Amino acid sequence: MSRSADVSLVDVDETVLEQLLALAKRDASPDEVAPPLGGPGWNLERTAWFFNYHRAAAQGLGGEAGEKTWGIVADGTLAGSIRLRRLGGGVVAETGIWLGRSFRSRGIGSAALRLVLKEARNAGVARVTARTLVGNLGAQRLLASAGATLTPDDDGTVSAVVVL
Ligand SMILES: CC(C)(COP(=O)(O)OP(=O)(O)OC[C@H]1O[C@@H](n2cnc3c(N)ncnc32)[C@H](O)[C@@H]1OP(=O)(O)O)[C@@H](O)C(=O)NCCC(=O)NCCS
Repeated sequence: MSRSADVSLVDVDETVLEQLLALAKRDASPDEVAPPLGGPGWNLERTAWFFNYHRAAAQGLGGEAGEKTWGIVADGTLAGSIRLRRLGGGVVAETGIWLGRSFRSRGIGSAALRLVLKEARNAGVARVTARTLVGNLGAQRLLASAGATLTPDDDGTVSAVVVL
């Protein structure tokens, strides 16, 4: 895949959801995709969380969860997932992203983040935040090149804010 892959976002319906779980299992670490539930690996608890989380987000930013997830498609292939969640009154939203390992470092994350920032702007969001670990240089570069201000916190994380 070239550096300038054609990247788009798709809604997470049941078919995409199954494909995302398969991608996560074969090409990502479980902790990059889901909270550390029920011990290591893709156990029942983590798998249930994954399905519940994406289904709850299917109603979109205006829905009860105030959250939406998308599948990231690069050159026609499902590559990962990105999310947006309204916080507080709704002018702030939080984002998070993961790609399959074989899709990383090709500009796909940057393109997907740009598309999500556009979605946020269209939904009236004024600031998008994200949090990552101090050691996650890829995520920090991704966020910085999207215009984020990065602030290290005392707990080993870095918080990022993009003003739209
Ligand atoms: C973080 C992640 C989404 C980045 O996506 P990506 O498609 O690999 O990133 P891109 O190729 O668009 O690169 C974005 C920037 O990060 C840099 N970068 C990418 N991977 C990097 C790495 N491992 N180390 C250092 N820099 C890296 C690129 O050089 C680029 O910098 P530039 O814009 O200054 O040229 C991807 O690596 C991933 O899925 N990681 C696992 C999950 C995760 O950590 N999610 C983030 C939680 S907030």
